[in-house]
Amino acid sequence: MNKLRVDLGERSYNIMIGSGILDEAGALIKAQAGVQKVLLVSNPLVFSLYGERVLNSLAGQGMKVAVAQMPDGEQFKNVKEAMKIVDQAVRAGLERSSAVVALGGGVVGDLAGFVAAIYQRGIRLVQIPTTLLSQVDSSVGGKVAVNHRQGKNLIGAFHQPALVIIDSNTLLSLSSRDYLSGLGEVVKYGITFDADFVCYLEKHREQILNRDKKVLEAIIHSCCELKRMIVAQDEREDDLRMSLNLGHTFGHALEKLGRYRIYTHGEAVAIGTVAAAILATKLGMLNEQDLKRIGDLYQGLGLETRFPGYPPATVYRHMQNDKKVKEGQLRLVLPEGIGHFTIRDDVPRRAVIEAIASAQSLPV
Ligand SMILES: NC(=O)c1ccc[n+]([C@@H]2O[C@H](COP(=O)([O-])OP(=O)(O)OC[C@H]3O[C@@H](n4cnc5c(N)ncnc54)[C@H](O)[C@@H]3O)[C@@H](O)[C@H]2O)c1
Repeated sequence: MNKLRVDLGERSYNIMIGSGILDEAGALIKAQAGVQKVLLVSNPLVFSLYGERVLNSLAGQGMKVAVAQMPDGEQFKNVKEAMKIVDQAVRAGLERSSAVVALGGGVVGDLAGFVAAIYQRGIRLVQIPTTLLSQVDSSVGGKVAVNHRQGKNLIGAFHQPALVIIDSNTLLSLSSRDYLSGLGEVVKYGITFDADFVCYLEKHREQILNRDKKVLEAIIHSCCELKRMIVAQDEREDDLRMSLNLGHTFGHALEKLGRYRIYTHGEAVAIGTVAAAILATKLGMLNEQDLKRIGDLYQGLGLETRFPGYPPATVYRHMQNDKKVKEGQLRLVLPEGIGHFTIRDDVPRRAVIEAIASAQSLPV
């Protein structure tokens, strides 16, 4: 088992990474979060796969456990479902010293985390992420939220977990679409921060597609390492943390235009990252060869990169609704070569629109 520490003073915590470590969840939570009473939050699919193992592990440490399940799907990441979980927390008699344990993907993690942030003004949260996307991204860093009908993640908080337990074996049961979606974020880390990691992904394409255990653990470790360093320096996303959002301004517009039904988050990030790379090329920040490398990497892993045919001006309008807009000006994270980034708030509207149009005519 590997351990990474997120250094945030009194809010510091460990990320434990290993294969088959779900059975050790109880012992890890007892030792590192020091709780006796927990509310395990999951959804029916994940609970049927892993719920019993986690329950046994918690009960084995003498913990008192109640279970709450939310329906499966992004459309249920809302205040109404969160309040149902709060009701169950009240019924279970959770106290300030208790914990919410989130077992599932990013949807369960975000909603359970939101409940932990607001219940009795905040109780402990343990994340046990079970999708690739949640293991490399959403479970670390303390952003918790539910959606408002006007937009994604509009109601939320910064609430760091007390512990993150990542069992890479859980990825073996993931659908290929959800697995690929996580790869959308994985590649983004490399392009933004780490050229060596991009080489690693290129070299291990076959093992990645076969979900090789060692390669998966290495990938999760690298991504969590990058994320923990950024979160430790910029917990509340003043600036540096924004760099994690390469491709997200384009991607969020796509998710919204597809009403959150057509594209998963990671699929939209992959398409958005390629659009950002095209824009960077047009602005002279990235050469054609590196642009091709980025497209090839995504496509080699099986991810779509062509931007769908929404009118570019409409996409631009939706990009302006992004939370990263500051005083009406788009703030874009753009690759500057591979493994480096720049945040730009001076990119003309016309350049963005041209980049979207180019991304729509990419070879498939
Ligand atoms: N908080 C953050 O910092 C942050 C960062 C990125 C994304 N997010 C959020 O994460 C969410 C997306 O997360 P996601 O991609 O994990 O989607 P998800 O939680 O919807 O999971 C995808 C599907 O996989 C299923 N599943 C989960 N684990 C499984 C397993 N081990 N085996 C089989 N099936 C499994 C789920 O039930 C679901 O049907 C979005 O709501 C996004 O906004 C949050």
